[in-house]
Amino acid sequence: MQITIFGTGYVGLVTGACLADVGHEVLCMDVDADKIARLEAGEIPIYEPGLEALVSHNVAEERLRFTTDPAAAVAFGTLQFIAVGTPPDEDGSADLQYVLAVARTIGEHMDGYRVIVDKSTVPVGTAGRVREAVRGALATRGSELDFDVCSNPEFLKEGAAIEDFTHGARIIVGTDSPRVEALMRECYAPYNRHHEKLMFMDVKSAELTKYAANAMLATKISFMNEIANLAERLGADVEEVRRGIGSDPRIGYHFIYPGCGYGGSCFPKDVQALARTAGEVAYRAELLEAVEAVNHRQKATLFAKLSQAFDGDLSGKTVALWGLAFKPNTDDMREAPSRVLMEALWAAGARVQAYDPEAMAECRRLYGERDDLALVEGREAAVTGADALVICTEWKAFRSVDFAWLRRTLTTPVVVDGRNLYDPQAARQAGLLYYAVGRGASL
Ligand code: UGA
Repeated sequence: MQITIFGTGYVGLVTGACLADVGHEVLCMDVDADKIARLEAGEIPIYEPGLEALVSHNVAEERLRFTTDPAAAVAFGTLQFIAVGTPPDEDGSADLQYVLAVARTIGEHMDGYRVIVDKSTVPVGTAGRVREAVRGALATRGSELDFDVCSNPEFLKEGAAIEDFTHGARIIVGTDSPRVEALMRECYAPYNRHHEKLMFMDVKSAELTKYAANAMLATKISFMNEIANLAERLGADVEEVRRGIGSDPRIGYHFIYPGCGYGGSCFPKDVQALARTAGEVAYRAELLEAVEAVNHRQKATLFAKLSQAFDGDLSGKTVALWGLAFKPNTDDMREAPSRVLMEALWAAGARVQAYDPEAMAECRRLYGERDDLALVEGREAAVTGADALVICTEWKAFRSVDFAWLRRTLTTPVVVDGRNLYDPQAARQAGLLYYAVGRGASL
């Protein structure tokens, strides 16, 4: 099957490489000529385990190609995936300008039937707007060519995107057209071999499914963070509570890890966008607002704990950070708790000495060179000469540490663990002033 993908960002590139890998012919289009040139040279603009090898393999096999030519892109695939960004507007709603620009491009260049597949996370009702944009561009040409628009939301996790694409729990397709259903079946047949994963539904339900899934997961996290904050004040251990409730299959163990708040490009943006969508239909989504508010507060707890440990005066202190990315196995720092912490530390006159296995270049790009930020190679270098340590990301390499060494190295042995990596008792016995999330010893 010939497939075109607009947008070579995270979703577009993973989708393109995975579809090419199962034998489809894929053409990825991007307006960014520099990015396309780099991709053609085998250079991947994002960090995602396995992606570089998958892209180079399929480029070598000539099943995966790149272009900046919109006419060639529209001419290529019967299926035209839109996987461009939908950044949040100032008010939290998704900005659809890039999605609608692609829709117009397709309308301007198509010469026969096309299925436009909305892959980007877009608010309910976007398929209708895409349809109007294509129709408008066709009308300008005096053309009435036939086309369909369907919704096919992605459920990829950064760091596990290839696995999620190839072994995802479900493939959602929103359409009311049997012709689209047949084409989407053909596209996803290689992933639908052992049991039926394809779920067809109406377009709006598919669009809402994507938001509902992310909002549900974000709700679980904020709920656990709320319980953790309570546990801290009540003298209970949230990790015990987590095990206790996770064992109930109706609750489950997934996504109930308390921490320093959820980040990334999806949860914060999608919870806000859904609340905003609710507002547009005169419904106040109070639960979603609370999920967002709890998360906001949770990100601030790292600084609050540290500040209390130093009696409210962090000026002149050097704070080591282990982890900058919003989660392990990515270099993504969008909405990362580490950023909220660093910015608060700088405002309080402290210095940051940070290490992250992948996100240091991204950190440099975001904050540039500054006197109060040192990006150092390795977790040892980060704590050397530091007064305190904060763990912001649960990279594997941080899971085990010699507490006695930490005790000797840190000037004041304060450790704020935003990811509950260590046994509080063992850490405290080793002489560390150890503060985790929801594990007693509230500050
Ligand atoms: C999320 C969803 O998990 C994907 O299913 C979805 O496709 C994707 O958004 C998207 O909409 O594109 P992602 O943002 O890559 O994926 O990251 P997650 O692994 O879900 O983690 C999100 C945040 O929640 C991280 O900051 C993580 O540290 C935090 N988290 C996760 C917790 O604090 N506790 C948990 O129990 C789980």
